Amino acid sequence: MDIIEAVKTRKSIRKFKQEDLDLDQIKKIIEVSINSPSGGNAQNWFVYIIKNKDILDRMRNEVETVYEKITGKSAPGVYAFFNEAPVVLAVVQKPYIGALDAVIEKADANRNYDRKFIVNPGLQGVSSFITHILLVVHNEGLGACWMTGPLIAKPEIEKILGVKSPDNLVALIPIGKPVERQSKSSRTDIEEVIKIIE
Ligand SMILES: Cc1cc2nc3c(=O)[nH]c(=O)nc-3n(C[C@H](O)[C@H](O)[C@H](O)COP(=O)(O)O)c2cc1C
Repeated sequence: MDIIEAVKTRKSIRKFKQEDLDLDQIKKIIEVSINSPSGGNAQNWFVYIIKNKDILDRMRNEVETVYEKITGKSAPGVYAFFNEAPVVLAVVQKPYIGALDAVIEKADANRNYDRKFIVNPGLQGVSSFITHILLVVHNEGLGACWMTGPLIAKPEIEKILGVKSPDNLVALIPIGKPVERQSKSSRTDIEEVIKIIE
């Protein structure tokens, strides 16, 4: 698929056929996506490929339990459908310490706080990796959805998967053969999101 077409036609998929996916295809998707840029080429990501239905059900259960405990309501579908996909990727951010970190931390801790937690190059690298995954999934004729909603139960899911600090679970990506091909969601006009400085 042409890159422009891939970017323009990709959309979040939230309903999947109950068909298994080939593990080699998933590994290929990740292998291609590793070409993503990252700060200092740190490649500070790690991926759990979850195919085990019991584990996925336990994860969903935790999301629903925590959501209900906090809000008194049942979790809406957009938080909890991921266990219906044949494969779910759990994307973990590994620590990223840039070359500038030690220098700036000593000289100006406030400035470094903004850099680390607002600019957050470590998280930007992982986000780029996830974007690559979504596009490669689409190119393979599969569907996926980037999900942070379920991370309302981040510590509980990390415990199930065995993710330990300083690593951080940052997203789930259910992947499968799409049953839903709804129209693409709308986008803002380019003029609303640019300012030309000549
Ligand atoms: C950081 C991030 C978190 C998201 N979390 C969720 C989520 O928890 N549940 C969900 O159904 N979609 C989630 N989405 C998907 C967005 O809703 C979706 O990308 C957006 O509505 C645009 O639609 P499109 O992906 O079909 O173009 C997330 C997307 C991003 C980038």
